[in-house]
Formats: sequence, C-alpha cells, structure tokens
Amino acid sequence: MPSIAALGAALVAATSVVSAQSVSGKPEGYGSKATGGAAGKTVTPTSTEELENYLTSSDPLTVVLSQTFDFRKTEGTASETGCAPYGTDSGCQIAINKDDWCSNYQADAPSADVNYDKAALNPIQVKSDKTIIGDGQNGVLLGKGLRLAGGVDNVIIQNIAISELNPQYVWGGDAITLDGSSNVWVDHVTTSLVGRQHIVTGNAGNDGVTISNHFVNGTTSWSANCNSYHYWGVYLTGEKDTITFKNNYIYHTGGRSPKLGGGATVHMPNNYWDDIEGHAFEGEDAYALIEGSVFENVKTPVTDNTAALYAPTSDDSACQSALGRACKGNTFSSSGKLDGTDSSVLSQIGENAVEADDASNISGIPGTAGNTL
Ligand SMILES: *[C@@H]1O[C@H](CO)[C@@H](O)[C@H](O)[C@H]1NC(C)=O
Ligand SMILES: *[C@@H]1O[C@H](CO)[C@@H](O)[C@H](O)[C@H]1NC(C)=O
Repeated sequence: MPSIAALGAALVAATSVVSAQSVSGKPEGYGSKATGGAAGKTVTPTSTEELENYLTSSDPLTVVLSQTFDFRKTEGTASETGCAPYGTDSGCQIAINKDDWCSNYQADAPSADVNYDKAALNPIQVKSDKTIIGDGQNGVLLGKGLRLAGGVDNVIIQNIAISELNPQYVWGGDAITLDGSSNVWVDHVTTSLVGRQHIVTGNAGNDGVTISNHFVNGTTSWSANCNSYHYWGVYLTGEKDTITFKNNYIYHTGGRSPKLGGGATVHMPNNYWDDIEGHAFEGEDAYALIEGSVFENVKTPVTDNTAALYAPTSDDSACQSALGRACKGNTFSSSGKLDGTDSSVLSQIGENAVEADDASNISGIPGTAGNTL
C-alpha cells in the first residue's frame, strides 16, 4: 500500500505540472498593464472543482487549461415556467424568467416550460492576479463562463474556448462578464452557443480592458430572431469602461454586436464583422472609434444609436491632432452604412489609441481569431 506521502506527491504531480505554456504577446491599449498571474506558480487543474478552486483563490496563479472542463450537470438542472417572447418555433430562443424578466418585460408572451442547466447561470468568480491560458486547442469550458467583478484586478484570459451555456434559453448564461474589474486582457478566446452575451461589461465600470483576437461565433440553432443568428453578442455598457477592442472576428450574429452604453470609451480598430443578419452597433451614452475594420454582409451596421461614433470611410487626417496619426478607413461590402462623425470621440481616446492597420491588411482574420495559438 503506498504511503500517505507518496499519495500526496502523486497528487501534486497530477495537479501542479509546470507547463511550458506561457502568455503569448503583450496586451496593448487600455488593458496594457495586465500581467495576470505572472508573479505566481503555474498550475494545471484536472477537474472542474480544482479549476474553480484555483481561479477563485487569492494567490497569483497561471492556470493552464489542458483539457475540456464540462460543468454541465455539476449543479443540477431546473425545470420552471419561462416565456416565449419570440415564438415557439424550434429555431426560437425561449426565455428563463430570471429576475422576473418574463413577468416584468414580456407580459404578453405565452408561457413556456424551460429546462436548463444551473451551472451556466453561475459563472466562475475569478479573483485578481490570474492568467487563464489554454494549452493549444485543449482549453475548453463547457456550461460555465467566467466573471470578473467587484474590484477584481489584473487578469489575462488567453487561448481558450467557452461554449454550451444553455444556448436555447435567453438568460441561459454569459461567456465572459466584466463587472467592476481593472487591467484585464481577453485574447484569442472563442465563444459560441451561449444563452445570453458572448462578452458583457457592466453594470459597474471596467477600467483598462483589452479584448483582442476574439471570435464571437454567433451560429446557433436557437435565436431571438428564430433564424440561427445569435442576437445577444457583445454588450459594452459598464460605467465609464475603457476598452480597446482590436482584431476581433464577429460572425453570424443578429444584433447587439456591440451594444454600447454607460459612458464607455471604446477604441475599435481592425475588427471584422462578417455575416450579420440584423445590426452590429446600437447604444447610447458612449464613445467609440471604429477604424480600419471590415464590414462584410452586415445588413445594418448601426441602428437605434445615440452613442458618439467616429467611423471614417477613408483614411482621415482629422485624427492627427488627437491620436498623433491619421485614422484608418473602414471598408464595406454588401453592407449598409456606418459613417460616424462625432469628433468628440477622438479627444476622449487621445493618447490611449493603439496603432491600426489598413482594413485591407487584416485579411488574417478570421484565421487568427479565437483559440488558435
Ligand atoms: C460556430 O459554431 C457552430 C455552432 O457551434 C459550429 O457548428 C461551427 O463549426 C462554428 N464555426 C467555426 C468556424 O468554428
Ligand atoms: C500590414 O501588415 C504588416 C504585417 O503585420 C505590417 O508590417 C504593415 O505595416 C501593415 N501595413 C499597413 C499599411 O497597415
């Protein structure tokens, strides 16, 4: 029979294998101060419980995800009465009555039975000073997202995929939530098949966030428009958020990609919006510079918007005094129009602007977006 000490050593070996995996590249823009768990140990969890323990610990840690962590069924399922505000066809999302949403906002909608997995409504509450990094394509979270809230500072999330958050249900789960965080870099993450948002910031402000090389995969079998285009995409509405959003691929969504609000300031160079059946931008009370980006098959680039947008359609020297360089023009094919001209955006971003490529030079996307490292 092995000694207790030998068992202990085996456990340490199984759970704390130091991996060669380290952060690739450096954050630029508003999230540039993020160093994540660089000051701490590197750990490789082997169960959902262990993963959650590491991410919620108060130590600085680099947490390597080298397997799929499937949280579905770990917290049971709920059978309740929700509502069907978009219809009852099989392609429509139906809604969980979360916080009485059905009763408060969808009083005319027929009721509907919902059967959802509870784990997805209860994201991992990541604590400060963490790097969460996928080992190749192996780092996958199913059925639970990540939430950085209530003063969490200094987190890097790189090269993972998050999926299967009750995609058939509105309020089924968000993949990445920032709600009162600072110095965060979300890079090379793929999100798909979520119930609600792929990325959501707010209500509390998030100071110093960079979201780069993200792949929002909006393809779903259940959508609010009943048409396979996920409606709830990217929601950037934290109080005075400061966000750099660069080199991202937003694909096959049906709305709110992004919705802006809360007084957020967002610099959005070199993103690729592809096959958006509804609208991309909507919002109010926010500042966004959209430049060097490609809109392809985006039916309605902007709707229902009072946020300040600056979105040049060709290279634009008016940016020179605020940014120290010209802005890059956006390009449009088979798409509607987006031509924001509110120059208050430029001084709002000012020296926090990162470099931008020509829109014609970002053809590496979609290949470079998502957990492709
Ligand atoms: C997008 O997500 C859908 C649904 O999960 C999946 O079938 C498809 O392969 C994904 N697309 C890419 C390019 O990964
Ligand atoms: C195009 O991309 C290459 C490689 O990233 C870069 O060196 C070059 O400066 C870019 N050119 C423009 C005009 O943005």
